[in-house]
Amino acid sequence: MKIVICKDKGEVSSKVANLIALQIKEKPNCVLGLATGRTMVPVYKKFVEICMKNKLNLSEIKTFNLDEYSSSNNEMRDFMNKNLFEPLKIKNEQINFLDGMNKDYEEACGNYEYKIKLCGGIDLQILGLGRNGHIGFNEPGSELQSRTRRVLLSESTKIANNISVEYALTMGVSTILSAKKIILMATGENKAEAISCVVKGEIGKKVPASFVRKHKNAMLFIDKAAAGKI
Ligand code: GLP
Repeated sequence: MKIVICKDKGEVSSKVANLIALQIKEKPNCVLGLATGRTMVPVYKKFVEICMKNKLNLSEIKTFNLDEYSSSNNEMRDFMNKNLFEPLKIKNEQINFLDGMNKDYEEACGNYEYKIKLCGGIDLQILGLGRNGHIGFNEPGSELQSRTRRVLLSESTKIANNISVEYALTMGVSTILSAKKIILMATGENKAEAISCVVKGEIGKKVPASFVRKHKNAMLFIDKAAAGKI
């Protein structure tokens, strides 16, 4: 895993946004795996600016989001609409989401994996990092082989994300690692402990993000604050 330490979150966001744009320039019909969360807000803001400035053709891309709360009002979808899809006028048929409202969650997760395969797999997967080392909603204890599934959220995640729902649907660790390229990102001091485990700790299910080190084309972008305990 290549590690890039930037001076601040502005630089992290700008570098990642430029890499997403580059991916689209190189392969206009690419498949993007996208994340939500506070870390992503400035990345999407910068990416929208780049797209507008360069009149990037986004009409052929496809997107798959990492996760959605179970039986929630599509919170992740609303986040994406606001920060990315509406400003860039990405059409509904280009966007894929786990259906948190489907009570048959095995079907919802199976369909999602199938759709990803049908699109030829994810070209570039963007990941944020949970303070407890999660990726997507693969909480500590998630296995390397885990696929897209329903998971019980940890108390610390519920507090960090300020939500009261118990379950979420998430792409699994192995689903994520099937992407051709991965960019993992973290900014701020409150991610320093998790980053230290991801970079220097043992690779294993205690810190699911550590599995990203097994991927042959993965990059980690962090700011100085998140790099504080390396
Ligand atoms: C949520 C999402 C993750 C995201 C993480 C980090 O739990 N499921 O995909 O990476 O939060 O969030 P933040 O960027 O707000 O710290």
